[in-house]
Amino acid sequence: MAKDNLSAEAITRDLETVFIGQRVLYFSSLTSTMEIAGEQARQGAAEGTVIIAGEQTEGRGRLRRAWVTPEGNIALSVILRPELSCLPSLIMLASLAVVGSIESVTGLRAQIKWPNDVLIGGKKVCGILIENDLQGNRVNYSVVGIGIDVNLRLADFPKIQPIATSLSDELGGEVSRLEVIRRLLVAMERSYFVLSEGGSLYEEWRDNLVTLGKNVRVKEGDSVHEGVAETVGQDGSLLVRGADGGLTKIVAGDVSLGN
Ligand code: BTN
Repeated sequence: MAKDNLSAEAITRDLETVFIGQRVLYFSSLTSTMEIAGEQARQGAAEGTVIIAGEQTEGRGRLRRAWVTPEGNIALSVILRPELSCLPSLIMLASLAVVGSIESVTGLRAQIKWPNDVLIGGKKVCGILIENDLQGNRVNYSVVGIGIDVNLRLADFPKIQPIATSLSDELGGEVSRLEVIRRLLVAMERSYFVLSEGGSLYEEWRDNLVTLGKNVRVKEGDSVHEGVAETVGQDGSLLVRGADGGLTKIVAGDVSLGN
């Protein structure tokens, strides 16, 4: 049982934000924070509303995969209502906020694996899922879902142990989810204001990517691209240089990293 006591009140108390996290709905158990956040957004919930779960029974990952949230981890979704032009930057915003909050609470160096993962020492510690609801050129809402392995003994999960890690395993002791969440929400809002004022997160995001310069194998739908991950575009795409010298732009995919 996790020692830290998560509650909506504890998260919002004196939180240094204007809107993100000023309304928090905490559920000890729910299907998926993505689903409840979507329902809330359609009912007109204020921008910045956060849905947090102690446990998810139908947590979802990218590419229709399931996402398991054992007790002691973080599973949350944030409702945003951004301009259409900001959508490609939401993954930059979320992943940088995760890296920053992990570093400031634990001192651990985290890095971003294109497109949506955060790694520590090459192992996945966080997954991010973004779902947008569009009407023509208008964004009704975006839901940014973040799952972080915080207090998880990977030895209890041998199937994922080779590829996943947790903050507690890395640090050798329990980590406060409350602190990580509060710093995460503050960091998200700061970056959101940067974007709303026409600024960019691109360079900081690019500089935190572990993927660049590595040999990669990217599955994009039914196609597979192999080569060196040369750089990323302002739109969040990955540019891979193949053995034939050609450059392929990949918008979404699953990356295996080589050296
Ligand atoms: C991935 O790596 O495939 C993305 C995983 C995203 C998981 C988070 S946990 C909070 C939110 N609720 C969900 O059902 N999924 C996201």
